[in-house]
Amino acid sequence: MVDPVRVAILISGRGSNMRALSEYRRRDPDRAYRIVLVASNVPEARGLVLAKRYGFKTWALSHKGIDRADFDALLDEALRAHNIELIALAGYMRLLSPEFVARWPGRILNIHPSLLPLYKGLDTHRRAILAGEEYAGCSVHVVTVDLDSGPVIAQEQVRILPRDGADSLAERVLEAEHALYPAALDEYARAMREDEAPILSETDEG
Ligand code: GRF
Repeated sequence: MVDPVRVAILISGRGSNMRALSEYRRRDPDRAYRIVLVASNVPEARGLVLAKRYGFKTWALSHKGIDRADFDALLDEALRAHNIELIALAGYMRLLSPEFVARWPGRILNIHPSLLPLYKGLDTHRRAILAGEEYAGCSVHVVTVDLDSGPVIAQEQVRILPRDGADSLAERVLEAEHALYPAALDEYARAMREDEAPILSETDEG
């Protein structure tokens, strides 16, 4: 049994991926990660209510009126105060400053609702449908300075159906996210314990 990697989940909204990460861990205490903190830049985020119900420690501070690098320095302080080893972005709707990303090389993961490198950024489902894609999907990737551009560590396809609109597609992709993210995080955390830097070499340039 591995000593679980101490994870912080960063959210800005409803937190359904946070819930999936939490439930996956609860189903089997032998997972390679443990959720130590849920942090948010939106103090009224619905996901924080859920996080508290789950008994997680939470940290929340509105980013409004605070310089990005200053905000991220405060966030960094909170993460270090909890000895966090790995950060999982889960609907964290805020760009991280280059300084912050540089302080956590290979230690930030994100889930993105597209088959990266396709459809980076927002509004992915509508763009995939308009482009006539046969498949949409989701990707878990390591966060580097460039938005949604770090190495992809896991991906799941979701077929686009003829009558799909952005909302119906988003719903099915979200279900795929909930299965993909916990397994990918677990695998990454396990690799961290076995080899201390699973993917650092690939992110050196980022
Ligand atoms: C998900 O679609 C995720 O891929 C994207 O933002 C959404 C967050 O949903 N980054 P939730 O807050 O986890 O429910």
